[in-house]
Amino acid sequence: MSNTQTIQWFPGHMTKTKRQIQASLKLVDAAAEIIDARIPVSSRNPELNNLIQNKPRVILLNKCDMANQTATKMWIDYYKKQGITALAVDCKSGRGLNKFPQAVNEVMKEKINRLQAKGMKNPTMRIMIVGIPNVGKSSFINRISRQNRAKVEDRPGVTRGNQWFTISKNLEMLDTPGVLWPKFDDQTVGEHLAFTGAVKDQVMDIELLAVRLLDFLKKLRPQEFITRFKLENEDIEQMDSYELLRLIGKKRGMLVSGGEINTERAAVMLLDEFRAAKLGRITVEMPYGDKI
Ligand code: G4P
Repeated sequence: MSNTQTIQWFPGHMTKTKRQIQASLKLVDAAAEIIDARIPVSSRNPELNNLIQNKPRVILLNKCDMANQTATKMWIDYYKKQGITALAVDCKSGRGLNKFPQAVNEVMKEKINRLQAKGMKNPTMRIMIVGIPNVGKSSFINRISRQNRAKVEDRPGVTRGNQWFTISKNLEMLDTPGVLWPKFDDQTVGEHLAFTGAVKDQVMDIELLAVRLLDFLKKLRPQEFITRFKLENEDIEQMDSYELLRLIGKKRGMLVSGGEINTERAAVMLLDEFRAAKLGRITVEMPYGDKI
């Protein structure tokens, strides 16, 4: 089996998307960028920096319920060192979202102060959500608008169709998120997105993807993974990852007629369990490549 695969991405309306984000950005004071806490590098599109230019931003490390807690703290610290405010959130349960309005206020302090100095008493700030597909943009918008009993309204002077949620005093959010495209220049980025299920399985070889995931897991050795597949007495780090996939399939009784192991089924099962965090709360990408 070849050890590499290129994940193809058809950006379709990339230019149109870019234009739409630029147009929406004109309406807001800041952007909240949602990324996947398990893959903070691969779930960001670096092009956003150009798009948002000097606008303040908050990074939301979403799905933190599935990421390693220490790793998430390290990421928040990493962004802080760069002067970026980041927040760990879980849009499934709503955990962490209560800190969002304050974080936004903080990054907009300068602008608010400037406007107040000009005589505006309580300027209303507006934000928009941006992020690549599947990071949880809709979940975030649903959650935050529900929690804050959203007031949706059309405003004069704003393009028809744009609606604003009031999420706290003097803070409003555009109801439609800006959808960025993932950056696939680097093969690792594509693979990591595929591990988390952000990329459709049909576009890649599922067994090869499982083998790549095992390359990672056998070094990290998360306890849940070891226990779940009863690997305590196996020297998995020395094992070829395809052999490990076979072993896992065998342990789960995934056989085809003739007694051969159904490695495809094993691959699907492994990826499903990883995506559901059944193999542990695992962060795939660490700041500075640090290990936890
Ligand atoms: P998008 O708008 O950015 O494309 O993402 P969306 O909100 O649709 O979320 C993509 C998937 O991620 C959804 O799962 C959603 O439930 C899940 N998700 C979002 N935020 C979190 C989180 O903080 N933690 C966890 N564990 N999951 C999260 P799905 O399986 O596609 O849909 P559903 O079965 O949940 O309805």
